[in-house]
Amino acid sequence: MLVEKNVPLQALNSFRIIAKAYSLVRVASQADVQTALASAELAAQPKFILGGGSNIVLTGDVKPLVLKIEIMGRRLVQESAKAFVVEAGAGENWHNFVEWTLEQGYPGLENLALIPGTVGAAPVQNIGAYGVELQDRFDSLDAIDLQTGRIFTLNAAQCAFGYRDSVFKHAGASDGSGLGLAGRALITQVRFSLPKPWKPVLGYADLERKMAEQAVSEPTPQQLFQWVCDIRRAKLPDPNVIGNAGSFFKNPTVTPEQCADIIARDPKVVYYPLLDGSIKLAAGWLIDACGWKGKTVGHAGVYEKQALVLVNRGDATGGEVMTLAKAIQTSVYERFGIRLEPEPVVV
Ligand code: EPU
Repeated sequence: MLVEKNVPLQALNSFRIIAKAYSLVRVASQADVQTALASAELAAQPKFILGGGSNIVLTGDVKPLVLKIEIMGRRLVQESAKAFVVEAGAGENWHNFVEWTLEQGYPGLENLALIPGTVGAAPVQNIGAYGVELQDRFDSLDAIDLQTGRIFTLNAAQCAFGYRDSVFKHAGASDGSGLGLAGRALITQVRFSLPKPWKPVLGYADLERKMAEQAVSEPTPQQLFQWVCDIRRAKLPDPNVIGNAGSFFKNPTVTPEQCADIIARDPKVVYYPLLDGSIKLAAGWLIDACGWKGKTVGHAGVYEKQALVLVNRGDATGGEVMTLAKAIQTSVYERFGIRLEPEPVVV
């Protein structure tokens, strides 16, 4: 098994932060992972799983052994009257996979077009956009326990999906008990259940606007896919041009009382009532209202068209990104009494 040493990670993280991995192994199959786990040299080393690198902030060189996921493959595993079940390897590029499903005639993932990253990383943070979350289309996944080498399968309930959250983001107890699988489960394949008959998920303001503009009342999956791509390209930076990790903070949830208090002071605040009675606030609006849009601190900045996205203005370190993030958190807390929680994993 080839262990690469001192591997530059700038091209392997979407923030384009300069850092290196002390050692890195590329895994292209479940067998590769098991070989690495069985190796006398590698078995005992702490491990770090790297997918598309689109949801991480590297604050230094990575000391644990990096397992770079390159498990490929896409296939229809089952078709019933109710759904297409489609499987992809964890290393597949997410957007290319979405495009492929549409080309094959398996619609249902179009609202999730153009999200950076890999298929294997998608369940970790339960990616979501334009009214669809991964959990709405999820069937099951295969993973390998990095401590035992055992292969196991999880269904949606076992993944404990939440808003940008899952069992893979939480650490378990050190004795192996507890539910968290962070750092423990390496996802190898993910299966999606795409319901039949297909129904468009509309209702999101940006999509409603596209429908009105183009006078289309019953869009096809391809039209929706194209609209989502157009909307994202218009307001989110392409990581190949400007380093970033998508939304940097989660949209916070508050009580109706807290929301009423903010509305009384700032009537323009953008909010969405949730089914459980709580209210979600648009973090982008809160940050924008604090005057951060377009600002730069050191080599890190706040994107001009969407204040929720932090960007690398060139050679930013992870430390600079986190300094900016903390300054934003402080000013939003001082003005609104709300603590913003980062979305990416800080390494
Ligand atoms: N807004 C501002 N100023 C800004 C940014 C936003 O006033 O600088 C306002 C907008 O005008 C809008 C509201 O805030 O009224 C919400 O903005 P937007 O529609 O852009 O969505 P978002 O809540 O900021 C979320 C997801 C995105 C996802 C979009 C579309 C989170 C943390 N972010 O953003 O996901 O693409 O909705 O569904 O939930 C990601 O997670 O990386 C990501 C890009």
